[in-house]
Amino acid sequence: MNILILGAGGREHSFALKLSQSNKVNQLFVAPGNAGTSQIATNVNISPTDFNAVKETVLNNQIEMVVVGPEAPLVDGVHDFFLADTELKNIPVIGPKKDGALLEGSKDFSKIFMEKHNIPTARYQSFTKDNLSEGFAFLETLSPPYVLKADGLAAGKGVLILDSLEEAKKELEEMVSNQKFGEASSTVVIEEFLDGIELSVFVLTDGKSYKILPSAKDYKRIGEGDKGLNTGGMGAISPVPFATEDFLKKVEERVIIPTVNGLQKDGIDYRGFIFIGLMNVDGNPQVIEYNVRMGDPETEVVIPRIESDLFDLFEGVANQTLHEKSFSINPKIATTVMLVSGGYPEAYEKGNEITGIDTVTDSIVFHSGTTTSDNKVVSSGGRVMTITSFGETIEEALKTSYASIEKIHFDNMNFRKDIGFDLI
Ligand code: AMP
Ligand code: GLY
Repeated sequence: MNILILGAGGREHSFALKLSQSNKVNQLFVAPGNAGTSQIATNVNISPTDFNAVKETVLNNQIEMVVVGPEAPLVDGVHDFFLADTELKNIPVIGPKKDGALLEGSKDFSKIFMEKHNIPTARYQSFTKDNLSEGFAFLETLSPPYVLKADGLAAGKGVLILDSLEEAKKELEEMVSNQKFGEASSTVVIEEFLDGIELSVFVLTDGKSYKILPSAKDYKRIGEGDKGLNTGGMGAISPVPFATEDFLKKVEERVIIPTVNGLQKDGIDYRGFIFIGLMNVDGNPQVIEYNVRMGDPETEVVIPRIESDLFDLFEGVANQTLHEKSFSINPKIATTVMLVSGGYPEAYEKGNEITGIDTVTDSIVFHSGTTTSDNKVVSSGGRVMTITSFGETIEEALKTSYASIEKIHFDNMNFRKDIGFDLI
């Protein structure tokens, strides 16, 4: 079978590498992909949100399954586009339709969903510019810090956590009245601050049954000790040591089962990944957010730990036979460390040649912002590549990742030297 993966990051490189190991997969295409995916698949230089270009790619290459990496095409309705097109409607898309993608596309929708299905989450209310004064009044009932969330997609920047009431009121007004995050902040969710340790749990579902994928923790801040600006993610570890069997049982009973059943009850036929951002508050899970895709760089530690054939699982999602599929996970620990361009997440250089990748033998190099130029691999983004290793312990896996990084070079390369610091 020929498969098209939409997206360009390390997440998509991980999918491509894993799918390339399935003997049921014939040709792999990645749109637009990166220098890493070009070594194991054919890159197609189109945007994942240009649905007509996606259609042309599918028809020209006899694609029989589409796997969607990022959220934007899902929120824009790529799955619905396929179902509405006579030539595409029988080609399965791994990723929810627009209705399911609202779990990520609208924080307000996801809070209403959680409340309706009794899924534990922070107490909240939503406001627009029309009831701003009620928003101020609600803030007064909460104690600091104050959590404000733009309802829509805001490129990971739409959540503000503020210490003073005055500041929170000012920012609320900026968001709803002055569109601080554009249209995305016309509605703002204000919620209670949850004090605990964060982790993510990933689920693959065919809408009826589900498989719980390995848990992971990512490191979002640019600086060591979790300081500085937020990034897309600087490294990740799987599994998360504090996600004990007992805790994960609570997650399954209180969050995963009600989520999958809730989608079904609400008539949302959901086929794809659900990324559940959780806070462990005194041993009890609370949902911070849903994403309707895998995380990046979490995928780079989660997918390598899956021993089962990923294509087989995707086929189960497409045919609603996921419950029949075998599923096993490598018990070893996986760690990944992201190499970024100096300056990221602010301004940074592109086009720097990356050397030494071929000398890495003990780790897997997943490309993110890379491209090929004059037969050389060069940087093309802030997050450039992520180095995944296995070990019996977190320390052992990290030691291997850091030793592999020694072999890679590009000008102004930066990375965090303390991934996993809080878990060791
Ligand atoms: P989100 O985009 O919803 O994941 O929020 C971004 C980050 O803000 C999360 O990863 C948490 O670290 C933090 N956060 C979001 N909601 C809360 C909350 N209610 N309490 C504490 N921290 C939160
Ligand atoms: N690493 C966080 C995310 O993918 O949203």
